[in-house]
Amino acid sequence: MSRPAQVRIDFEALRHNFRIARDRAGDSRVLAVVKANAYGHGLEAVAGVLASAGADALGVASIEEAARLREAGIRDVPVVLLEGCFSPEEHALLARHRFEPVIHSLAQLEAFLASPPEAPVPVWIKLDTGMHRLGLDPEAFRHALDRLQGHPAVARLRVLSHLCCADEPERPETARQLARFEALTEGLGLERSLANSAALLCCPEARHDWVRPGILLYGGSPLVGASAASLGLRPVMTLESRLIAIRDLAPGEPVGYGAAWRAERPSRIGVAAIGYGDGYPRHAPEATPVLVEGVRVPLVGRVSMDMITLDLTRHPGARTGDRVVLWGEGLPVEEVAQQAGTINYELLCGVASRVAVRHECGEADGDVPAVVSTP
Ligand SMILES: Cc1ncc(COP(=O)(O)O)c(C=O)c1O
Repeated sequence: MSRPAQVRIDFEALRHNFRIARDRAGDSRVLAVVKANAYGHGLEAVAGVLASAGADALGVASIEEAARLREAGIRDVPVVLLEGCFSPEEHALLARHRFEPVIHSLAQLEAFLASPPEAPVPVWIKLDTGMHRLGLDPEAFRHALDRLQGHPAVARLRVLSHLCCADEPERPETARQLARFEALTEGLGLERSLANSAALLCCPEARHDWVRPGILLYGGSPLVGASAASLGLRPVMTLESRLIAIRDLAPGEPVGYGAAWRAERPSRIGVAAIGYGDGYPRHAPEATPVLVEGVRVPLVGRVSMDMITLDLTRHPGARTGDRVVLWGEGLPVEEVAQQAGTINYELLCGVASRVAVRHECGEADGDVPAVVSTP
């Protein structure tokens, strides 16, 4: 038997979450964000399911990710390069593969104009409406419009911007960004895109022509303080392993590196085969919940590279070989993230490549094999 650490990817949950995005999008088109290996869920398989579920476009962070989609046979869906091209050599690949670049800076604009693709491609201009990370300011935006409108290498122009605080709906920044976006883009006759997952759920005015959900497709809550279940979302990833040892400790005996935890009473300690080398957060503190055969038990001691230790004293029925869930089905990733001082996005993206991946289709539809193992 191989090491039991694995992620199970539930494609039925992915389809379910996509349907929620589609419903909330109304008449807007859905650009499904699959960058960062589909938030750690496996780029090709996830994109294949989303494409066949009806995603209108896919969003990635690099041309390498985009090329992987085409190599996997995902040919019919446009792929948007959300950070644009990183070098002019990439322009040569755009038209042939139906990749659509974002232009977020004057340097990218100049590079595009200096070595345009050989056939026209749709281009997305990114406008900075207040996040101040990527995007053109209003003056540069008007300059880019002048240069790109009617240019022979531009099949159509679209405009997007990104929201900085949509995950906290009570904050004023979203309304301010929305107002700036409207003021700068209304009446231009260009297709527009503003909403990420959080805005898709909380800010219908931000839907425009294209919405760009990421985290909600994977069943993560995009809203601070709202559980994914309360939003109707289902976890796509479950990270799990098994108990590989159990020992009894006398009061005063420590567990793990640094002897950071000591038994205060006779204690039963379980060792699960998962650690920071698998993407479990090293900073998860004592009492972070873990499921052992569905029963919540607390983490104790430091997280090591390949193992964690659990206090099973209140779960006397636990046995070596029991299934351990670190997050996913039955244990929201948000809860673990909050304990570890991080966010659901980081935990999902951070699962290590050594962890075996098991794809589960739910209803058989031929999108992906029923079970694929890729350590
Ligand atoms: C430009 C852009 N649009 C959309 C998204 C999707 O965001 P979320 O996962 O919060 O829905 C991202 C993710 O960071 C992004 O960078």
